[in-house]
Amino acid sequence: MRPALASALMPFVRGLDPEGAHELSLRALNWGLAGRERRPDDPILAVQALGLSFSNPLGLAAGFDKNAVAVLPLMRLGFGFVEAGTATLRPQVGNPRPRVFRLEEDRAVINRLGFNNAGLEAYTANLAALPRPLPAVLGANVGINKDSTTPERDYPELYRRAAALVDYVTVNVSSPNTPGLRDLQGEARLAAILDAVLAARAEMPRRPPVLVKIAPDLSEAAMEAIVGTCLDRDIAGLIVSNTTIARPDTLRSPQKREAGGLSGRPLFQASTELLRRVHRLSRGRLTLIGAGGVENGETAYAKIKAGASLVQTYAAFAYGGPAMIPRLKRDLAARLRRDGFPNLAAAVGAEA
Ligand SMILES: Cc1cc2nc3c(=O)[nH]c(=O)nc-3n(C[C@H](O)[C@H](O)[C@H](O)COP(=O)(O)O)c2cc1C
Repeated sequence: MRPALASALMPFVRGLDPEGAHELSLRALNWGLAGRERRPDDPILAVQALGLSFSNPLGLAAGFDKNAVAVLPLMRLGFGFVEAGTATLRPQVGNPRPRVFRLEEDRAVINRLGFNNAGLEAYTANLAALPRPLPAVLGANVGINKDSTTPERDYPELYRRAAALVDYVTVNVSSPNTPGLRDLQGEARLAAILDAVLAARAEMPRRPPVLVKIAPDLSEAAMEAIVGTCLDRDIAGLIVSNTTIARPDTLRSPQKREAGGLSGRPLFQASTELLRRVHRLSRGRLTLIGAGGVENGETAYAKIKAGASLVQTYAAFAYGGPAMIPRLKRDLAARLRRDGFPNLAAAVGAEA
């Protein structure tokens, strides 16, 4: 790929407003400027999970393509799956700008976007317009509007409308930027929401699996309650994790005091430890997707050994551009072979 085009796809390069640069990168993707990975994935990277076939375990995390405007070009970069969203029932402007901050020295991002998105109508129209079959697995990530008082009605409605169009649906109850949202991770509230979503699912002709995306800032007891709530029901898996409201002492960037959710390198350790604990508790009965500081083969492999069957990235992709995808996959395959694993599944939870 030509360097100019590659850098057009790096939203967090120095000197550009991060949100404006992000919008530009989505446009560049749609103009076909992002390039395309034509080499087939190494068979050692194939994953069977959630009743689906992934040609590799690397996914694009939610929030990059909130309105599903660049799903196909993103898939063509070589991701094994793309999670579009978060979509809410009604369009929403989100918080005032600036609301995305680069922490360059820390290879991190703080965002307080607040579910800015074009709403479910536009989202589903974009998903419906995609050519099928798609070259990778497609997930929908759904959330509630800031002013919603009816999550037990909203999430099932979001599920119903997305079900025909995607391969899995993630219930997002962990963004730190919608007031009160993370309280929905509490046992009774979460149980009520998931029961309502699963009831809606039972009535659909097509029933994509349901995942729950959790925050990294949960107490041990809260995490145990969530795992129990999911295991008691037909929940397929968990995404561990969303961004953190914590500010590790190691942060050096001047922007570290901005309010919002922190992601990228400084999130790696906490989110991987949480993943490990969730894996131990669920003993393989939930499919886990590891997110938080995945930036290369080493960090992806660490998530897999902690219990993830799949991983997702956002910040490192935003910093590194599309070239990080083939590099990560190549390095991960080499690590699996070096350690004698016949396939990726054999390494899942190897160090949990
Ligand atoms: C700018 C930005 C926007 C995000 N928007 C969403 C979102 O809409 N929904 C969601 O579930 N997660 C969202 N996330 C969280 C990511 O999906 C991911 O869980 C988190 O960034 C950790 O991964 P990373 O360390 O690789 O960035 C967002 C992250 C960033 C940086």
